Amino acid sequence: MLYQLIAFVFLSSNLIQAHPTRSKCEDIQIPITISSPRFNITTSIENDWDAVALTFNLSRRDSVPLPISGALSDPVTSTYTIGATLCGGGSSLLVLTHGIIESKKYWSPDLENSSAYNFISAALNAGYSVLSYDRIGVGTSSPVDSHHDAQFQVETQVLNALTTHARHATNATKTALIGHSYGAYLSAASANLTSVDAVVLSGFSGSFANFAPFVAGASWRVAKLQDPERWGHLDAGYLVSADVFAETYVYFAAPYFEQRVAEWSYAVSGEPFAVGELPSLLATYDNFDNVTAPVLIVQGQFDVSACGGDCVGLLGEARKLFGRARLVETVEDLPAGHNLNLHKVAPKAFQMIFDFLAAQGV
Ligand SMILES: *[C@@H]1O[C@H](CO)[C@@H](O)[C@H](O)[C@H]1NC(C)=O
Ligand SMILES: *[C@@H]1O[C@H](CO)[C@@H](O)[C@H](O)[C@H]1NC(C)=O
Ligand SMILES: *[C@@H]1O[C@H](CO)[C@@H](O)[C@H](O)[C@H]1NC(C)=O
Ligand SMILES: *[C@@H]1O[C@H](CO)[C@@H](O)[C@H](O)[C@H]1NC(C)=O
Ligand SMILES: *[C@@H]1O[C@H](CO)[C@@H](O)[C@H](O)[C@H]1NC(C)=O
Ligand SMILES: *[C@@H]1O[C@H](CO)[C@@H](O)[C@H](O)[C@H]1NC(C)=O
Repeated sequence: MLYQLIAFVFLSSNLIQAHPTRSKCEDIQIPITISSPRFNITTSIENDWDAVALTFNLSRRDSVPLPISGALSDPVTSTYTIGATLCGGGSSLLVLTHGIIESKKYWSPDLENSSAYNFISAALNAGYSVLSYDRIGVGTSSPVDSHHDAQFQVETQVLNALTTHARHATNATKTALIGHSYGAYLSAASANLTSVDAVVLSGFSGSFANFAPFVAGASWRVAKLQDPERWGHLDAGYLVSADVFAETYVYFAAPYFEQRVAEWSYAVSGEPFAVGELPSLLATYDNFDNVTAPVLIVQGQFDVSACGGDCVGLLGEARKLFGRARLVETVEDLPAGHNLNLHKVAPKAFQMIFDFLAAQGV
């Protein structure tokens, strides 16, 4: 594979003041070439009526077939430019993958007085190197076709390539993949294909049994119609939540968060996701039996998409997905909803993650 690195020193004095440790960070653009087969995604989204019809299809009790026609194609080679933030100088590297209707800002909020929610600052203080990135089609990464490119197995290859790139860029000797929500599935799938030293998953139960309230509650709208100024460059297959309250229902649990943080999450950190992503995940996903690294699953108890609003007693099933992992630890009851890092319990959750990694020698 081809890698090139173009680094731009991170110069925003505001952010450096707000987050002193950010001075160890650079915002970079990483061109990556991958080869991956594609699904033929058949759902046609032109407007909000279509978005509502897709919502109905994906949340029906008797679940209609996924909007996929035929088999996977032969591998298609593509080059994408990934917007990433690379931080630190530690010999253990954490690679962070965000969820849907999110961006890499999830890991490092650019909000006043938000250091308690800043995973990257906490990780740098704990001595790690960190790579966070926007998925293809999201934020600072290149816009891609919502049907053809933004697919789960393509994004898994992108993560594999970014991890290799970041290992070289930091000279790291240990690597952990840290994923949230859809990014947790990507992290697990990447660890299923490549050797890493640890995997940490949140917003994840390994089950889609309780997915319907998320699909329905998120109130998907076509991004380019919702905010033409911000998302007019994306095709109509990119969707966002209708408003801050729809997003709060799926991602936050009262009274365990600050409303100003949910407002920031919706208005600033939130980015559209592509219609190719969930069907390709659902069509690909079965188990992660090739993962041998130790796995931590750390959950807000009141997670809607992973657990239908209550994770207690549900994570035993998730353990079974990692049949060959050296160790699977689960935490199912932190006082939070889906966006664990953006709840008041975040510092405690971060410490649990670092303690787990340290115990694994990472
Ligand atoms: C919803 O599913 C029906 C089949 O039950 C299909 O005809 C229709 O195109 C689907 N709509 C969308 C927007 O995917
Ligand atoms: C994708 O599926 C649609 C509907 O079945 C079909 O018309 C189209 O030819 C397929 N495209 C490819 C590239 O297979
Ligand atoms: C900063 O945020 C914390 C919660 O994270 C809050 O307790 C504190 O009052 C806030 N301080 C200011 C000056 O807003
Ligand atoms: C990585 O190691 C190489 C060769 O030893 C060295 O030139 C480079 O400066 C190191 N990079 C970092 C980020 O430490
Ligand atoms: C299983 O993982 C190893 C690395 O740990 C990798 O070399 C191998 O190709 C993977 N096997 C499959 C079938 O993905
Ligand atoms: C993980 O690897 C196992 C064993 O090779 C395979 O059966 C499974 O389909 C893989 N999972 C994914 C999501 O690729």
